[in-house]
Amino acid sequence: MNWDSNVRPNDMARIQTKEQADAYIAEQVEFIRNKVGDKKVLLALSGGVDSSVVAALLIKAIGKQLVCVHVNHGLMRKGESEQVIEVFRNQLDANLVYIDATDRFLDKLVDVTDPEQKRKIIGGEFINVFDEESKKLTDIRFLGQGTIYPDILESDGVKAHHNVGGLPEEMLLGLVEPVKLLYKDEVRVVGRALGLPSSMVDRQPFPGPGLGVRCTGAITRDRLEAVRESDAILREEFDKAGLTDKIWQFFTVVPDFRSTGVRDGKRLYDWPVIIRAVNTVDAMSATVPEVDWAVLKKVTDRILNEVPGVCRVLYDLSPKAPATIEWE
Ligand code: XMP
Repeated sequence: MNWDSNVRPNDMARIQTKEQADAYIAEQVEFIRNKVGDKKVLLALSGGVDSSVVAALLIKAIGKQLVCVHVNHGLMRKGESEQVIEVFRNQLDANLVYIDATDRFLDKLVDVTDPEQKRKIIGGEFINVFDEESKKLTDIRFLGQGTIYPDILESDGVKAHHNVGGLPEEMLLGLVEPVKLLYKDEVRVVGRALGLPSSMVDRQPFPGPGLGVRCTGAITRDRLEAVRESDAILREEFDKAGLTDKIWQFFTVVPDFRSTGVRDGKRLYDWPVIIRAVNTVDAMSATVPEVDWAVLKKVTDRILNEVPGVCRVLYDLSPKAPATIEWE
């Protein structure tokens, strides 16, 4: 089997069981060791499913010859970067470089209102940070990538067009892409077999620009915190209500407008939090699930009590189309 090929053989069985995943892992470990030898591999580890599985696979194959770089762009969900550090540095003993680039990203985004411009800035800055860090490292000969088969089929082998983290063009490194012939469900099976936690392997899709596209218009730090805190509350309460496995994707949005409210007898002017929950097969169209009223009420009460600057909570009832899943 030529694992460098970009064509999945017709007779390649779908990986569904632990045994199949173990066999795949063993083959990849051998292939990676032969390809890489004693050289180093660099990997941008976002904490998403694909890069996490590639990291775990490479750690198994070459241990500390893998250098993972995790860039925190300040637009991660609550606890996400901490989980990357806990799993990869503390549990898997990875060679992990953690860069908190929050200020760099947020400073560049001040007063930027156009969603596509925001995406461009976040994607561009990500490459700058990654590039700068990689120049500090020596002996890197390969770049690990979380390319999966749909990326090859849909976008000429580049990660989805709106994904943060393209390749710095001047970096002429060999590529190591150990899950590039796999579909998403197979990547998850492999990740589970490698011992990654379900919270990492079964994650919902999360846009590369992160919470940046859920803090609509020009991002401010206080509104971004409101998105992060309300998202954490929503995830906690939906999880307690057993909805995590039943709803495809859910999150909160804080738009850049205020409405009147009243607290302790005083009128105020605060933000709304919008809850977005959707079910879909392929994200091309989506429906809105009927969520139990008591659960929505619990989420609402907690957000209003715990998140500063918020006086209203709304549930978005709009299907895709005409509404998209994200708000921008
Ligand atoms: P929309 O909003 O287009 O979203 O209905 C469809 C799916 O794509 C995700 N999404 C993104 N993913 N970068 C990404 O990596 C992005 O800029 C981006 N925008 C949307 C969205 O979360 C949903 O799952």
